[in-house]
Amino acid sequence: MSARGLNLLLVVAFVASFGVMWAARRDVHQRNLEYFPDMARGPRYDAFEANPVFPDGRTLQPPPEGVIARGLVPTHFSASTADAERAGRELVNPFSANDAGVLTRGRQVFESFCTPCHGAGAQGDGPVTRRGVPPPPSLITGRTPTLGDGQLFHILTFGQNNMASYAAQIDREDRWRVILYVRSLQPTQASPAR
Ligand code: HEC
Repeated sequence: MSARGLNLLLVVAFVASFGVMWAARRDVHQRNLEYFPDMARGPRYDAFEANPVFPDGRTLQPPPEGVIARGLVPTHFSASTADAERAGRELVNPFSANDAGVLTRGRQVFESFCTPCHGAGAQGDGPVTRRGVPPPPSLITGRTPTLGDGQLFHILTFGQNNMASYAAQIDREDRWRVILYVRSLQPTQASPAR
């Protein structure tokens, strides 16, 4: 066949194929034929919906025992006073007051979470003390300047007597930052024994 004949044939075949597609076009509003519809749309349950798949009938399952949240390295301390002291010896603040932004962030955390009780200057004179709450100790004088950062971290994590734990409200790194902010309020910034 000549080149010209071949070209003609290709043009005819091209046009004809469009004709076939046009003739066989489907209603675009109709769903295409699906061979395995559940592969495309699996059955799903909402988080709090009853679920026949699990023995306890719940969709949202508690994490298996021993699971650790991403990025959360466990500390091996209990809430006891002895462990608070051990934390003071063993834990080291991962930040230093000279790190960029540490004190700014520490101050934000302090103003959000600590000033109501401890007061803006951490003297133990926050607004709650004017409403009948016994004043908390000063963080400027007294015991706090003598405690290591690790022990302060333990106090923020587990609480101490009338002060509750702040572990749920303040993440680990912010707990270390707020400690450095408290230190920056203390007159002598001598680093206490760790
Ligand atoms: C609801 C009031 C309240 C809030 C909020 C609070 N504290 Fe306290 N804090 C106390 C009380 C009360 C004590 C004394 C606990 C005790 O008797 O041992 C205390 C003790 C402490 C101590 C130990 C002081 C010592 O001499 O033993 C530190 C350190 C401390 N708080 C830091 C903080 C920081 C930092 C924050 C903010 C993240 C904070 N606290 C938020 C009430 C509070």
